[in-house]
Amino acid sequence: MTELAVQDNMLKNEYNIRLARPEDIPGVMLVNLKSLPENYWYGFYSAILREWPDLFFVVEHRGEIVGYAMSRVEYTSDPVLAGEYDELENGPLSPLRKLKDYVVRSYKTVHLISIAVLEPHRGKGLGSKLLENTILAAKRHNADSVFLEVRVSNTPAIRLYEKFGFKKVRIIREYYRDGEDAYVMVLKLDSKNNNIII
Ligand SMILES: CC(C)(COP(=O)(O)OP(=O)(O)OC[C@H]1O[C@@H](n2cnc3c(N)ncnc32)[C@H](O)[C@@H]1OP(=O)(O)O)[C@@H](O)C(=O)NCCC(=O)NCCS
Repeated sequence: MTELAVQDNMLKNEYNIRLARPEDIPGVMLVNLKSLPENYWYGFYSAILREWPDLFFVVEHRGEIVGYAMSRVEYTSDPVLAGEYDELENGPLSPLRKLKDYVVRSYKTVHLISIAVLEPHRGKGLGSKLLENTILAAKRHNADSVFLEVRVSNTPAIRLYEKFGFKKVRIIREYYRDGEDAYVMVLKLDSKNNNIII
């Protein structure tokens, strides 16, 4: 058996990665509160779950929620969010291009709003599994891309996203309440290889 298969078996036995249910929300909120300064109210989680139940994943360990990834579908005319234009490489879009895109373009994207794994359970591949499932679900939606915002200092998260092919394409100055900047990271999808893995 390969090392990867052993790890996968371990994950399957100890951890259950599945779609979220309404009763998971308090557990998700606890993971969020313990892991991130960006917190949301109960109604926000339940609205996302109600509208996009196939884009909300949890990790369960001995009956406890220890991780989650929550996303929603968004429509945009912004080519940066669709993975069609890299602002960090090519500079900001011109006002004329913005106007043209606004009139003629509509991209379907999946916005990864929040992902977290409780500290003692990190480094076991759970974040990767959550992200992998999110990407596959986005492909099943025929989305053009998956995008997210991440603190510029959040190396573990940035590495995780880069491992799956996400690229930093924009910087948003003072995006967070404490003044830290955010990278926008995008994964452009081809929507062809949409296997179901959960
Ligand atoms: C980001 C997070 C979800 C990763 O979860 P995880 O279960 O530890 O992730 P994995 O074990 O699947 O690791 C995936 C990759 O992330 C990177 N990574 C994970 N921990 C890391 C660390 N401490 N330092 C650097 N890179 C790290 C590695 O590239 C790793 O891949 P590898 O094991 O093949 O090297 C987790 O660290 C977390 O919950 N952080 C707090 C919440 C947060 O910052 N969320 C993101 C907001 S944008």
